[in-house]
Amino acid sequence: MSDVHVRPADLILPMFVREGIAEPAPISSMPGVVQHTQESLVKAAVEAVEAGVGGLMIFGIPTEKDAVGSGADDPDGVLNVGLRRLQSELGDDTVLMADLCLDEFTDHGHCGVLDAAGAVDNDATLRRYASMALAQAEAGAHLLGTSGMMDGQVAVVRAALDAAGHLDTGILGYAPKYASAFYGPFREAVNSSLVGDRKSYQQDASRSVADALAEVALDVAEGADIVMVKPALPYLDILRAVADASPVPVAAYQISGEYAMVEAAAERGWLERERAILETLTSIKRAGASMILTYWAAEFAQLSLR
Ligand code: PBG
Repeated sequence: MSDVHVRPADLILPMFVREGIAEPAPISSMPGVVQHTQESLVKAAVEAVEAGVGGLMIFGIPTEKDAVGSGADDPDGVLNVGLRRLQSELGDDTVLMADLCLDEFTDHGHCGVLDAAGAVDNDATLRRYASMALAQAEAGAHLLGTSGMMDGQVAVVRAALDAAGHLDTGILGYAPKYASAFYGPFREAVNSSLVGDRKSYQQDASRSVADALAEVALDVAEGADIVMVKPALPYLDILRAVADASPVPVAAYQISGEYAMVEAAAERGWLERERAILETLTSIKRAGASMILTYWAAEFAQLSLR
């Protein structure tokens, strides 16, 4: 009688590629997830796509970081190199997505450039995002995820893409993205140097749904092709409201801390791992997500093949 089904094609696998390593490096707070070399990235991506996942979201970890995140729009930067290799290996066999955010590339770890007082400078950051978007589109990304959360980011990126002739490169708008404790393990995953928090540019969890709907309306008006709610499990009420209101498809991101929570409890024998994974994914789908970013995407797809 069940009427909510999670299928591999609903799932998008986030993947990390790190510069300057010879072997994949485990991420201790995310057992089973690694920082890939360029070679292992391609191999794991092909396996995930063959198993049936619907897309890949790629994050890059450079060796050198600086105040403006120079590696982000460098065509030879780790993320752009990874995208180019994946594009040449996979072509249009999958939806190739890129994280359009500066935090992995800045030495201060913020999602933007800073002003003299050390605060994130929204408008100066937008110029960096326009340039980063072009580098990612040229490297072959199909869809850019605007996770930097600057005001006006979607509009600026859309205009830059159009002006350069990248009319078919889409935008995944991180519409409501909450300043969450559940990003904890991700900081290790990308060797983040962040001190402080992102409360000046991410949403406050104590705001009700109207705030989220306003963010969605802005991103859609600016040209987002898909909007995303993030994190997922603690925000299912928001997800349901966004799914009911959004004129464009809605995604949800089951983030690093959601993954770590289940893995840690399962490791201690405190819950049944596969049942818990399926239940969380089903809940997110039931709340209205038509696609889910999850670190379990490849495993789920491989299990479904059995
Ligand atoms: C920003 C970004 C973050 C995540 C995805 N994109 C980190 C942040 O906003 O602090 C988190 C994903 C996760 O926790 O799994 N580049």
